[in-house]
Amino acid sequence: MTSAEEFLRSYHDARPEAASELAERGRVVGDGRSVYEVFADRVVAAKGNTDTNTEAKPQAVLDLGCGDGALLAALKTRGVAKVAGLDLSPGQLAAARKRPELGEADLKEGRAQKLPFADNEFDTVVSFMALMLMADVEQVVAEVARVLAPGGTLAIGVGGGGREAMEVFLKVARPLFAVVPQERRVPVAGDPRTRTREGLDQLLTPKGFEPVGWERIVVDFGGTPDEVWQTCHDSYYQMVTLDETHKKGLRTAFTVATRNLVTAEGRLAASACIDVAVTRLR
Ligand SMILES: C[S@@+](CC[C@H](N)C(=O)[O-])C[C@H]1O[C@@H](n2cnc3c(N)ncnc32)[C@H](O)[C@@H]1O
Repeated sequence: MTSAEEFLRSYHDARPEAASELAERGRVVGDGRSVYEVFADRVVAAKGNTDTNTEAKPQAVLDLGCGDGALLAALKTRGVAKVAGLDLSPGQLAAARKRPELGEADLKEGRAQKLPFADNEFDTVVSFMALMLMADVEQVVAEVARVLAPGGTLAIGVGGGGREAMEVFLKVARPLFAVVPQERRVPVAGDPRTRTREGLDQLLTPKGFEPVGWERIVVDFGGTPDEVWQTCHDSYYQMVTLDETHKKGLRTAFTVATRNLVTAEGRLAASACIDVAVTRLR
């Protein structure tokens, strides 16, 4: 396991439901539902688009970096027969096992670089806000191509950056993250190619995937200034590296920098972009 993977495992073990609770605070702009519901719809529709039977649904889905199973639960409620998930964090997998929808799910602890699943076992592989954190991503893609049956769907969700107060937060936080002593810093995780359409095509097409379809989903995280601060705070792994003095300083800087964005009703605008890439294995 890499040092970044060790960090991710202990971070998520200490906060098993944090990733899904954070995502579920947001509402997809123009839709009003959670990002898991919208992403799950895209996954089901992608199968219909690539099958001669347009009503076709995924039958066997693997979620790489499944966390506490929020996306798998949304897929199960859409009638997917077999759902499986893999994650580094046993704490999150334990939380996933408590979900009533996932009673029969095949949930395994492990690394996406070495999948404990058989060749051609799935017709769909998904990874939401997780592929972008993975080391040796060529190896992950090779493993996805191995477990995915020919003609199968791969759907990926990656972070596309914050807007409004979330963009301001990163501007004021970055200089503080940069002065954290080396030994306390969060190890760098992931490959930047996973965050762009061109980068994903570079990684995926040599392994037999078609060029990705690309859609940007915007998620509204607006609320009171306190709520938005908490959402920004919970969105960055690096926050655990700041001491209390730096955290207080960041909060003050954030409050000052966003003051002009607060509406007369006391609401602070904030949103985050999720880029959704969907492709098919030839
Ligand atoms: C930001 S969380 C997202 C979790 C979940 N997909 C969700 O949206 O609720 C990223 C997840 O990816 C997992 N992860 C990161 N690298 C991984 C790897 N190499 N193999 C398996 N899981 C990994 C982490 O343990 C973590 O649960």
